[in-house]
Amino acid sequence: MIYPILTAEEAAQFVKNGMNVGVSGFTAPGCPKKVPAAIAALARAEHEAGREFKVNIFSGASTNDATDGELSRSQALNYRTPYQSLGELRNHINAGEVHYNDRHLSELAQEFRYGYYGKMDIAIVEVQSITDDGELVLGTAVGNTPTWLQVADKVIIELNDQLPESIRGLHDIYVPLDPPARREIPIYRAGDRAGTPTAHVDPKKVLGVVRTSEPLGLLSKFTPVDDVTRKIGENVCEFLVNEMRQGRMPKSFLPIQSGVGNIANAVLDALEHSDEIPAFEMYTEVVQDSVLKLLESGHCKFASTCSMTFSREAMMEFFSKPELHDKLLMRPSEISNNPEVIRRIGVVSMNTAIEADIFGNINSSHVSGTRLMNGIGGSGDFTRNAYTSIFLCPSAKNEECISTIVPMVSHVDHTCHSVDIIITDQGVADLRFKDPIQGAEEIIEHAAHPAYRPLLREYLALSKMGHVMQNQDLALSFHRSLALEGDMRKTDYSRFAVK
Ligand code: COA
Repeated sequence: MIYPILTAEEAAQFVKNGMNVGVSGFTAPGCPKKVPAAIAALARAEHEAGREFKVNIFSGASTNDATDGELSRSQALNYRTPYQSLGELRNHINAGEVHYNDRHLSELAQEFRYGYYGKMDIAIVEVQSITDDGELVLGTAVGNTPTWLQVADKVIIELNDQLPESIRGLHDIYVPLDPPARREIPIYRAGDRAGTPTAHVDPKKVLGVVRTSEPLGLLSKFTPVDDVTRKIGENVCEFLVNEMRQGRMPKSFLPIQSGVGNIANAVLDALEHSDEIPAFEMYTEVVQDSVLKLLESGHCKFASTCSMTFSREAMMEFFSKPELHDKLLMRPSEISNNPEVIRRIGVVSMNTAIEADIFGNINSSHVSGTRLMNGIGGSGDFTRNAYTSIFLCPSAKNEECISTIVPMVSHVDHTCHSVDIIITDQGVADLRFKDPIQGAEEIIEHAAHPAYRPLLREYLALSKMGHVMQNQDLALSFHRSLALEGDMRKTDYSRFAVK
């Protein structure tokens, strides 16, 4: 190998205060596992010596504890984008200590190439292999790595010997040209390959290689399906079957996008057990353990993803079964979440909301309007361009103290124009072919928890007639009651009405 072999600590020395640093991966998979933690240690040493040391981190999506965890604990983060999901980083962001900028995941790579963020000083990239002429086999996610390799001045490689050789061929690396030279992205089915199995870096940019031996896959497992998530899954199935019966969805079905987490798991579980849903393809940004089951059973014929968000056990199982390897491709986020492709192939999107309002606007990211939870992730990429866009949530949370259906969302991520269907454990609210007031009645009667329906109906009765009915004094009464009483059921509109 022509590249210098470095320790993580030696590699970290190349990183200086104020640098723009790109990291590989998408959600924890594919992220560098040693060098970011060494940068955090360097930051602590610099702080102790009385010197400033903070960096700007650009990722594919959320990262791992070695990156977002260690860097935020060490007060080493100045700016962070796009998605994150780690409690400690979240706390620093909500305290105003880290500048966090929530971007659509499909857009960050091109925005960087357009020059919105200045130059990228260093990229840190986990790989399975690197050749002397710069051919790279990436790890268990792609994220924005191909663009970071293009734009970064210098590159540090983490060569993880736990990545099996059989990962070669699971990537589809395609970086579009930028306008005005961009052409159509040649993906017409979820399984089409548009690019190459390997990524490329100019060998002259490689500062060195850090050898690692880090386990693959996630430690945490998702909570099992419960009564509420099971009901949401059943309602999704019922809705999709009815769409086919009504001729609104082809009998051959359409590719599915589904997020991470318990609700997504429950939905995929329900799809697997439905007699009426045919085998389908997925065009999505993450695949979790439930998708492995679907691939094994043949219910999922092909999964296009950005990341293999598998548990450790599922990751081992996947790599031990070569027959599954031609059923999955990992692509850069700008392709896995690409609006052009999503619209062309007719993806049915399913994302989870923190709350929805009775007019169909969605809050995916901020609890009570101010506290960032995770970020929008790919929900905007898929929702806005979907064949049918579905939002899912339990109708109530925290022993019914919180209604997820509110008069007005406290923060807007997706406007009513992009939302077709809201599904909760109570049922399906279909907003298509309805004006906002008809939509509000549909949401109240079919998606809201029964404990909140009278309050929501009362809100409409107290609102001013217009194309949308709102009462500006009372629109956030549910949130104010939660803040004051810890329970949205205690909403008393007369308390908030301006006298
Ligand atoms: N009002 C007040 N608090 C709320 C709330 C609401 N409407 N909804 C949730 N919360 C609180 C919960 O009480 C919980 O607090 P705790 O951590 O103190 O217990 C916290 O917010 C998280 O809620 P929870 O229901 O456990 O979230 P989840 O794990 O089901 O995730 C999202 C839901 C929306 C946060 C998650 O799906 C997400 O980040 N989505 C955006 C990204 C996305 O859509 N990606 C899709 C492409 S992969």
